[in-house]
Amino acid sequence: MKYDVRQLPLISNREIAQGIFDMRLAYHQADLPVLCGQFAHVYVPGKTLRRPISVCDASDGELRLVYQVKGGGTEIMSQMQSGTVDVLVPLGNGFDIQSGRRYCLIGGGIGVPPMLYTAKQCDRPLIITGFRNQSLVILQDDLQAQGETLLCTDDGSAGQKGFVTDLLRARIGEVDEVCACGPTPMLKAVAAVCKEFGKPCQVSLEERMGCGVGACLVCAVKVRKNGEEVMQHVCKNGPVFNAEEVVF
Ligand SMILES: Cc1cc2nc3c(=O)[nH]c(=O)nc-3n(C[C@H](O)[C@H](O)[C@H](O)COP(=O)(O)OP(=O)(O)OC[C@H]3O[C@@H](n4cnc5c(N)ncnc54)[C@H](O)[C@@H]3O)c2cc1C
Ligand code: FES
Repeated sequence: MKYDVRQLPLISNREIAQGIFDMRLAYHQADLPVLCGQFAHVYVPGKTLRRPISVCDASDGELRLVYQVKGGGTEIMSQMQSGTVDVLVPLGNGFDIQSGRRYCLIGGGIGVPPMLYTAKQCDRPLIITGFRNQSLVILQDDLQAQGETLLCTDDGSAGQKGFVTDLLRARIGEVDEVCACGPTPMLKAVAAVCKEFGKPCQVSLEERMGCGVGACLVCAVKVRKNGEEVMQHVCKNGPVFNAEEVVF
């Protein structure tokens, strides 16, 4: 897979929900096309390791990264207001989207952003988003422009009260395949529903990363291949895996 380090001009970087920022960088795909579900590895001044952030969108001359402030690195990112950002992009294997199939795209919390660019590659996607509460809800208008978008929160403060799997169960008969990104317990629950209903499912995993390109072994996860458990790299073999192969 072709990737490169780019110095991308910062267009904007604004807070769109409590502690969640929308960074837009000037990016033209011509020589480095970005696939949905791939990620960018962002250099943060003063930090040795880059920070992996999923591509939220890569249309219209922009690379859009939506991220939550978690620690020192993302805090520094949230303060960037001008100049260029040093980004290693595009990394990993994204979602496999085939034409003629109807997809249900599921995002949980800060796993919602990659579903926007993914939705743009799908025909009539059904999009399900889940958040802990109303203050963390993001990207609803962007997603609604791409397909029917359902919202739920754990506490019922926005959308339906409950979990993404409740909405998935009610609508899974309408789709051919499911793609999901979010916290591991959510991915495990989505994968179980898909198995129950016999629907293929792709999940985007998250692991701590070092190099981002398969050289350091930091991001190893256990997957099942041909009946045997083997270790693979989230950065290079993923972050998207066939849910049936993941050892949760
Ligand atoms: C493939 C992938 C895609 C991601 N996409 C997004 C996204 O779109 N939006 C978003 O908000 N977050 C995303 N994350 C999580 C994001 O990378 C971490 O929240 C971020 O690296 C935390 O950095 P920090 O310096 O603020 O926190 P610190 O805790 O100070 O980080 C210390 C170190 O741990 C690593 N680290 C900490 N938490 C994580 C984590 N959850 N995953 C990977 N490395 C971590 C950091 O990269 C850093 O090297 C993604 C992670 C992966 C692996
Ligand atoms: S982060 Fe180095 S091998 Fe994946």
